Amino acid sequence: MSKGFLVSLEGPEGAGKTSVLEALLPILEEKGVGVLTTREPGGVLIGEKIRQVILDPSHTQMDAKTELLLYIASRRQHLVEKVLPALEAGKLVIIDRFIDSSLAYQGFGRGLDIDAIDWLNQFATDGLKPDLTLYFDIEVEEGLARIAANSDREVNRLDLEGLDLHKKVRQGYLSLLDKERNRIVKIDASLPLDEVVETTKDVLFDRMGLSK
Ligand code: TYD
Repeated sequence: MSKGFLVSLEGPEGAGKTSVLEALLPILEEKGVGVLTTREPGGVLIGEKIRQVILDPSHTQMDAKTELLLYIASRRQHLVEKVLPALEAGKLVIIDRFIDSSLAYQGFGRGLDIDAIDWLNQFATDGLKPDLTLYFDIEVEEGLARIAANSDREVNRLDLEGLDLHKKVRQGYLSLLDKERNRIVKIDASLPLDEVVETTKDVLFDRMGLSK
């Protein structure tokens, strides 16, 4: 049994997960919460190498199942090397994307078999699920417009996909939310950043039993 608390951040492109996380860190530090933040795909050396292969915009030939298996491989390595030791040490671990991204993008988005992805996720994580998943919801067009306006952000292979895929991804997230209302909490990411941060903080503190 791990002693820490595992949170995953999910959402379609441009929902602003990363900005919310950056704003949340000083608040958590002030509370004296030991926190590790990390991301998928990547997070560790082997994971970052797999990330480069997956997201390289020139890899247009990549098959959907190959893509899925690379995300799963990156997940396993990252979990073993980074997430599990931090949970064992009693930390709050916040991962930018985890199991639900594979279901939303490769399952609902690309149309791969959901049960197969569920199985692969469980195989890669030995059945570990987040204690809490914060799902940042935004209309697809609005999210993509935010990305287009942010010139600092690297453009990856998934960003270049058509609107249709991103719409299926969002619908996918909404049906995952429907199935696991206890684990997944929806946050309206179309609101101004400070409001989104405040709501996120409230949900997180509440679930962790921290006073506000
Ligand atoms: P990233 O630049 O980290 O995007 P974001 O800031 O939106 O999180 O790129 C990660 C991309 O990989 C993103 O488009 C979502 C996608 N992805 C999957 O398709 N499946 C997965 O299992 C994971 C973890 C990510």
